[in-house]
Amino acid sequence: MTWHPEAVPDAHGNTVVVTGANAGVGYFASEQLAAAGAHVVLACRSQERAEAAVSAIRRRVPGASVEATPLDVSDHASVAGAAAALLERERLDVLLLNAGIVHAPADRAVDARGNELVLSTNVLGHFQLTALALPVLERTPGARIVTLGSLATLLARFPLDDLQLDGSYTSWKAYAQSKIAAQVFGFELDRRLRAAGADIASVVVHPGYSTSGRTPGIRGVNQPSKVKRFADNLQAAWTQGKDHGAWVPVRAALDPEVRGGDFLGPRWVTKGVPARALATPTTRDRAVGERVWALLEEYSGQRFPLGR
Ligand SMILES: NC(=O)c1ccc[n+]([C@@H]2O[C@H](COP(=O)([O-])OP(=O)(O)OC[C@H]3O[C@@H](n4cnc5c(N)ncnc54)[C@H](OP(=O)(O)O)[C@@H]3O)[C@@H](O)[C@H]2O)c1
Repeated sequence: MTWHPEAVPDAHGNTVVVTGANAGVGYFASEQLAAAGAHVVLACRSQERAEAAVSAIRRRVPGASVEATPLDVSDHASVAGAAAALLERERLDVLLLNAGIVHAPADRAVDARGNELVLSTNVLGHFQLTALALPVLERTPGARIVTLGSLATLLARFPLDDLQLDGSYTSWKAYAQSKIAAQVFGFELDRRLRAAGADIASVVVHPGYSTSGRTPGIRGVNQPSKVKRFADNLQAAWTQGKDHGAWVPVRAALDPEVRGGDFLGPRWVTKGVPARALATPTTRDRAVGERVWALLEEYSGQRFPLGR
């Protein structure tokens, strides 16, 4: 299975939605998918940052078909509004669940519903969005849902009775647990889609270790300081730019050989061209998947219309 990130399949006629698309991996995935010919919808919480990203793609990809739509994944009403807008579309070929808090706050914070903010942003909003957008994915032959996991899943425990980290919060635990829950969601979603006989694949990816100081500078999108560039370049041996990190979700979106339940990451673990990768047993575990699904329904207040 070979893949050339700079020669991807043609995507004309496909509609792709990318959450958190104004910066980082989400921006570069949007740019690369637009360059492949897809119509790309950048779902972002700041109109100003979304417009900067749309302008950057139009500048860098002549003829790009792109638009922005408002979405704050930590806000229940915003997610419901974005999903309602998606349902009005004729098709949705790829839903790329990328938005995330990567540098979690030092102190525990909560969203308006009282859910821990990193869990809310990195998992609950995407769970709600996917549940509500299911009908448009169902009417698009061969649709895909791509979830961003992380290498952090290798390095942390996953206590199912403490997903909200009430009394036990640290920023590292919040990030790592949210990414474990995101991967569990992606794999459980695929099992449920198979059980329902749906023509939708759920694929999980991780972008290795991708830093902004190793990423091309783009006005309004990626403007790291000289100090950040210097510090990030000291780690060049085992890191890559977010433009290269984006190769992984782009492959998950476009490679005809990718199947539901696949897990992809950079070939050299933290960097490199996308290849199949090994997900932790916990994130693939059926019993964990079933339990987490119930917790996600409870915390998000969103019933997901897919049984086992
Ligand atoms: N970079 C890595 O090495 C790495 C490794 C493993 C996994 N990942 C995963 O890859 C994804 C992207 O990471 P990144 O490095 O590209 O991060 P990033 O550069 O910090 O970009 C994160 C994006 O998510 C958006 N976002 C954050 N909170 C949001 C909210 N409530 N609603 C809507 N959008 C929101 C941000 O928008 P604003 O500009 O509005 O904040 C931004 O566009 C994340 O899911 C992350 O966990 C990254």
